[in-house]
Amino acid sequence: MMTDASFSSVLSDTQRQKQNARPDRDFYRQPRLVQHVDERFRTRLTELYRERLRPGDDVLDLMSSWVSHLPEERRLGRVVGHGLNEDELAANDRLDRYVVQDLNKTQRLPLEPDAFDAVLCAVSVQYLQYPESVFAEVARVLRPGGQVIVSFSNRMFAEKAIRAWREKGTGRGRLRLVAQYLEATGAFASPETIHENPHVPPTQRFLGGAPDPFYAVCARVAADDAA
Ligand SMILES: C[S@@+](CC[C@H](N)C(=O)[O-])C[C@H]1O[C@@H](n2cnc3c(N)ncnc32)[C@H](O)[C@@H]1O
Repeated sequence: MMTDASFSSVLSDTQRQKQNARPDRDFYRQPRLVQHVDERFRTRLTELYRERLRPGDDVLDLMSSWVSHLPEERRLGRVVGHGLNEDELAANDRLDRYVVQDLNKTQRLPLEPDAFDAVLCAVSVQYLQYPESVFAEVARVLRPGGQVIVSFSNRMFAEKAIRAWREKGTGRGRLRLVAQYLEATGAFASPETIHENPHVPPTQRFLGGAPDPFYAVCARVAADDAA
C-alpha cells in the first residue's frame, strides 16, 4: 500500500511486481556481510559523497547494510541507517542509530520532518515497489535545500527487482526511471544524472568480467519547499 503523501504514479501495478513475491524480510533474514558492487564502483561512490556531503551534514542511509561507502575522513553530523537486516546494520560502524523497516510494506519513515541534509540510497532502488511514495517520504525528512543521491549499477537480485527495472534493461532507461520517481514527488528540482561506463579492453579486464558501470541520480529539494 502506498501512503497518502503527495506524489503522482509512475508505475502501473504490473510494473511493481517481483518474480519472488514472498516477504522481503524472509529474503533478507540471513545477514549478507558482502560487497554488492566492485571496488571501482565503491571508490567512485565514496568520491561522489566526498564531493557532495559537507562536514556536519546529518545523513540518512536508506536501504543500508554493514557499509555506507562514506568517506572515512569526513566528519558528518548524525548518520542514521535504514535497512531490512538488523545484524547488517549493527555491524555498520558509520551509523549512530538505525531503523529496520520493510519499505514495500510501509513507506512512512519513523523519522521527523526536516531532519536530514542528505538521503543516500546505494545499489538498492531496484527493489522498491512503491518508489514514488518512498521518495515523497525522502522529501519530507530532508531539510530545505537538502539532497538525495541514488546510485546503482547493473547488478541485482533479479527475483527481487521490480518488473519495470528488469524490463528497462539499460542504464540510461533506469536513470530516467529514477529521475521520474523523484519528479513524481513534485519536491525535487531537475534531477542530475551521472553515467560512467568506462571502456576497458577485454585483455585488461579482471577475472569475472567487465567492471560495474556507475550510475547516480542526484537532486535537491526545490527552493519552493523552503517556504
Ligand atoms: C544490495 S543491498 C545494498 C546494501 C547497501 N546499500 C550497500 O551499498 O551495500 C540491498 C539492501 O536493500 C535493502 N532492502 C531490500 N528490500 C528492502 C525493503 N523491502 N525494505 C527495506 N529495505 C530493503 C536490504 O536491507 C539490503 O541491505
